[in-house]
Amino acid sequence: MTAKGEVKKRVEALRKEINHHRYLYHVLDKQEISDAALDSLKNELMELETQFPDFITADSPTQRVGGQALAAFRQVPHAAPMLSLVDAFSVDDLQEWEKRNKKIIPIDFSYFTELKIDGVAVSLIYRDGALKVAATRGDGRVGEDVTHNMRTIDAIPLQLREEMKGEVEVRGEVYMLKADFEKMNARRKKEGKSLFANPRNVSAGSIRQLDPKLAAKRPLRFYAWEIARGVPLTTRQEEYTLLQKLGFPVPPHAQLFESLADFKSFIAKEEKRRLKYPFQVDGLVLKVNNLGISRRLGIIGKAPRGSIAYKFAAEEATTVIEDIVVQIGRTGTLTPVAHLKPVSVAGTTVSRATLHNADEIERKDVRIGDTVIVHKAGDIIPEVVKVLPTLRPKSAKPFQFPKVCPVCGSKVIREENGAVYRCTNKKCFPVQREKILHAVSRAAFDIEGLGDKITEQLLQEGLIKDPADLWELTAGDLTPLEKFADKKAGKLVQEIQSRTSIPLARFLVALSIPNVGAVTAQDLAQEFKTLDKVINASVEKLLAIEGIGEKVAESIKAFFDFKEAKNLLKKYEKAGIRVESYRSTGKFVGKIFLFTGSLGDMTRDEAKQIVQAQGGKAVSSAGKEVDYVVVGEDAGSKAKKAEALGLTQLTPAEFKKMISQ
Ligand code: IVH
Repeated sequence: MTAKGEVKKRVEALRKEINHHRYLYHVLDKQEISDAALDSLKNELMELETQFPDFITADSPTQRVGGQALAAFRQVPHAAPMLSLVDAFSVDDLQEWEKRNKKIIPIDFSYFTELKIDGVAVSLIYRDGALKVAATRGDGRVGEDVTHNMRTIDAIPLQLREEMKGEVEVRGEVYMLKADFEKMNARRKKEGKSLFANPRNVSAGSIRQLDPKLAAKRPLRFYAWEIARGVPLTTRQEEYTLLQKLGFPVPPHAQLFESLADFKSFIAKEEKRRLKYPFQVDGLVLKVNNLGISRRLGIIGKAPRGSIAYKFAAEEATTVIEDIVVQIGRTGTLTPVAHLKPVSVAGTTVSRATLHNADEIERKDVRIGDTVIVHKAGDIIPEVVKVLPTLRPKSAKPFQFPKVCPVCGSKVIREENGAVYRCTNKKCFPVQREKILHAVSRAAFDIEGLGDKITEQLLQEGLIKDPADLWELTAGDLTPLEKFADKKAGKLVQEIQSRTSIPLARFLVALSIPNVGAVTAQDLAQEFKTLDKVINASVEKLLAIEGIGEKVAESIKAFFDFKEAKNLLKKYEKAGIRVESYRSTGKFVGKIFLFTGSLGDMTRDEAKQIVQAQGGKAVSSAGKEVDYVVVGEDAGSKAKKAEALGLTQLTPAEFKKMISQ
């Protein structure tokens, strides 16, 4: 199929899926996936429709707005419409918003900010201080009468604490504590009942029960955020204080800011703190403090210009599983890890998610190619929550655990009655860790900031399996790791990404070929010049190199014949690593050295490496081709032979002078 054909199919599948969830939500009062996941699907659809406008249809879920009150409740027209807020997702969005407002009223605004509680909006009407009517938002103009249920909520005063004549309308949010929600779901699980998706959902469902006894059983709470009418007020701050005096709980951590600039650091603080609140907070509401000015700014569409919702990044998103790869844990357990099409979750880009074990994969029926919901909260590695089967392509492939360990080739067993597959080689994990540390060491890729603790965590969490995986890491993958602040994660990713080109000899070191150290790697590079030639070198050709014996030659050949090595090389290539062919540069190009005897504070291997780094060659027996013989203390027969051949001799001190010149 053409690429455009593929897109069309995807657009249709997305629409079907989104419509299915809308039906569940609005008609059956059920929710199978989170709002964030649904938003993520809608975003993808919106993006595809923007790219291919001829695929837009009138019935596309992107083309409609709003909902209507249900007939089962008495309808309550709102005296002033219950508006919604425009969302901002970045400081830039806020600046744009302020700029637009300044065009209407060119003054310096001060702002009052409150937590944005993730609950359900209700309107409460008090007459002469007594609660008379409570209504849902409905379509904003007409809501549903839910007075009978709202009277069961303890946090809502039935009588105002201060005398108020006439009608006063207070609006706010009904919500539920996270802990109460968990308790309720645990109880329902025990009773074999279906589980609720999230606290907000229960709140919405509860206040729309026809029988108030049911609502009374639910631990609902309330925060007030507005006095819509009935009291003359000049500022939001004053409104906030009065609400408390009247007996209403108000969202905590409200604050006044003299400018948008002052508000910025508050966002960062709250973004970190938000998961610690005992209730769900999905952002901050920023309100122009002066109510007269706010009113003068007016309304655009269904939202007041004077307030805006700064939304925190969602903890869930949808994306596609590109591959499933197993990773070996400390105790040899094989953990399946999904490689994802990168997606932004909770403000960071995520490209991996754990699938835990075989049982989980079977239970969730996860396949390669599936569209899935990934969830990331606080300090845990993202996980695949759920598959969206409607979006499964025909080509989706079920995952099978390998029979042999992909790292060491040892046998893999499935534990009896267990979900766990295990590599039978006890040394598998430590060996893999060492290989990665070796690849990032000074002699190879020279990546700073990747110590054994981090490497171990990355392996254990399934973020990497081999060194080539490092180039796939995003800062979002790293920040959840212990002691990994955003800045450090960004720095490490940058450091890794800056190493995309590597000289052949260093690359050969990074491969961890058994029996091949820095010196042999350099010998190989000098002899064969390109990676391809090293890979294809025969044992005979390898043996022809000075210093390479049978054992080393066999082990090089065996390494490159190993399927896993071939895969690793392919992964490096895919990661964009360019292996630089050997070029002879430096002051010893074409020069051959022989070292004999003790060189003092330098080992012979170190001396050889210096010569090689400068394009020269080091041999271990005297011959006519040798240019310099460095004769150290206690030199034996080699020195004598060199003398007999009339070769140029240097003392270790002279050699050192030569290299420092
Ligand atoms: S002020 C025009 N303050 O968020 C509506 N709203 O996305 C003025 N919400 O409809 C709203 N916490 O249901 C305001 N501290 C808060 C809020 C809050 C939650 C809800 C409210 C509103 C929705 C907008």
